[in-house]
Amino acid sequence: MPKLALQDLDVRGRRVLVRVDFNVPLNAEGGITDDSRIRAALPTLDYLLERGARVILCSHLGRPKGKPDPALSLRPVAQWLSDLILRPVSFVDDCLGEKVEKTVSILQNGDCLLLENLRFYLQEEANDPEFARRLAAYADFFVNDAFGAAHRAHASTEGVTRFVQQSAAGFLMQKELKFLGEELANPQRPFVAILGGAKVSDKIKVIESLLAKADTLLIGGAMSYTFLKSQGVAVGASLVEEDRLDITRRTFESAAARGKKICLPRDHVVARRVETDRLDKKGRKIVEFQDAQNTSSDSIEDGFCGVDIGPQTVRAYQELIRPSKTVFWNGPMGIFENKNFAGGTFEIARAVAESGARSIIGGGDSVKAIHASGLDGRITFLSTGGGASLEFLEGKTLPGVAALTDK
Ligand code: 3PG
Repeated sequence: MPKLALQDLDVRGRRVLVRVDFNVPLNAEGGITDDSRIRAALPTLDYLLERGARVILCSHLGRPKGKPDPALSLRPVAQWLSDLILRPVSFVDDCLGEKVEKTVSILQNGDCLLLENLRFYLQEEANDPEFARRLAAYADFFVNDAFGAAHRAHASTEGVTRFVQQSAAGFLMQKELKFLGEELANPQRPFVAILGGAKVSDKIKVIESLLAKADTLLIGGAMSYTFLKSQGVAVGASLVEEDRLDITRRTFESAAARGKKICLPRDHVVARRVETDRLDKKGRKIVEFQDAQNTSSDSIEDGFCGVDIGPQTVRAYQELIRPSKTVFWNGPMGIFENKNFAGGTFEIARAVAESGARSIIGGGDSVKAIHASGLDGRITFLSTGGGASLEFLEGKTLPGVAALTDK
């Protein structure tokens, strides 16, 4: 790796500011519903604490828009982390100011402090130099382990590096870059990439970049209806991005010209979408699905919309996944949050887990689906990044990585 790594620093007795991505999902009562991102930071934390560094952790949580919001406090995360590392984790209810300075000044070797949500200040997302300078002033070194936030040029991911002597990548950051970068650039073959999710527009660049590396691309989820429509297949009332039909058609054709195979669903689970008068928590009309059934071909009747891949598609995709040596997967195959339409996603998850291939799951909903299927232990690498993994796969430079000290 061309950037300084955590293991290049002599951290004993030094104050180390560590940017982590503790942006964890919370339930209505504020409880943490998935602690994967906290666990993913443990190798870096254990390493630092065992070597007697004085650790100052900082993170964002949610999008509080520059104002303190008790519902988005990191305080519960401090307790959670302390239970995981079996050491006290102190917490200050601010990320700047006297209280923080005082607590930092009395940190002993092997102590760990978590600061309050950085996004309680507008200056964080604005990458304000003074805010970054004040954060940097707490520490001798900066370690960025927040891969999930590395696509943001914020004060704690980018700006801060201008004010410390050395900024290094933590172990999680290194691992993410290795799996999503090197492993996919030099895959063992056959390499099958599986892409799902709602929007082609979010993923068209990822599709193009994966087409250059993978042997076969399997498409599922709502984006497959835009692909099918671009090939002249009837998709009924399914979600389609009309303004992406042209680019989708071109991508399909250019893949074929390069001898790459893009596979589209050959059957579907479909249902009628009915808007009820009931509202959800965000004030949107609750949608229900009725008359769910399987189609016998890739086309969908008027009035029905696709909600999952069908059993023939599952079998065909499983056949392609089974002999693969590398699998990359991003995006669910259907509306998996509804258990009636989760079958395709879970079957694909099982096929990936059982293939024995090097399996890399590219963050977001596909990671949720793997957790929900209980197969996470059988996956080689689960990315903690959502937007960051997609931007990285598109080939974009991540500001949080670019800003680290060159080796
Ligand atoms: C994520 O959840 O993808 C990261 O924590 C980044 O969060 P953001 O999209 O609010 O910047």
